[in-house]
Amino acid sequence: MLATDLDGTLVGDAKGLKHLINYYKNLPYEVSLVYITGRHLESAISLIKSEQLPTPKLLVTDVGTSIYQGSNMEQDLEWKQKMKKDWYPRQIREAAKDFPQIKPQQLPDDRRVSFTIEERENEHIVEEFKKALDAEQIPHNFIFSSGRDIDILPAGSGKGEALRFIAGKFADGDTSILVAGDSGNDLEMLTLGYPSVIVANARQELLEVKENANLYRATKTCAGGIHEAWKYFYG
Ligand code: GLC
Ligand code: MG
Repeated sequence: MLATDLDGTLVGDAKGLKHLINYYKNLPYEVSLVYITGRHLESAISLIKSEQLPTPKLLVTDVGTSIYQGSNMEQDLEWKQKMKKDWYPRQIREAAKDFPQIKPQQLPDDRRVSFTIEERENEHIVEEFKKALDAEQIPHNFIFSSGRDIDILPAGSGKGEALRFIAGKFADGDTSILVAGDSGNDLEMLTLGYPSVIVANARQELLEVKENANLYRATKTCAGGIHEAWKYFYG
């Protein structure tokens, strides 16, 4: 199973992607594709179409808060139910109003509450916002990516928890998994303990991750890096 982020990981180098897909086609075993993205469903589907990505077995959107299955993208209701528990988007938006530098993202619904912050110098404000949510004891998972995106998710959610759920529900015990990512929202899934690859174009926040035997740092960018890591772990 390839569990991969899309933007900057599977997508970003068209030639590398073509090679990877061909390589998978010619393997003597089947590789299930699981896409795990920060995008919302419509945006993820439009990327899959425009980049002509193969239809995945599972599509995880909104930074791990939603899981869809099969070609007609049926939502996993067990996960959906779990996400509803102890989730207070209104309080989160309210708390954010104390931080004018943090701008709400326009999203189709509130399965997550996301913001952007303009300047890198403002990173201390991100810390302050996090502290404010903690002080108000609003249950959440706080994800900061690319020095720009802030995603507030239900506690027990995120790309890592979603992948753990998927591995338990949809993969046989002996399935080999490769996890691939390039930025902060991928961190939790890259450090679950599965063989994992950080592609060469990764953002600063992933360059700081502690080394371990199951973590491969690719020399190639995007899909080329995934290809390299697949051969390293399973070739
Ligand atoms: C994607 C999403 C955005 C999110 C970011 C980080 O860019 O479109 O909403 O904040 O990923 O997870
Ligand atoms: Mg990415």
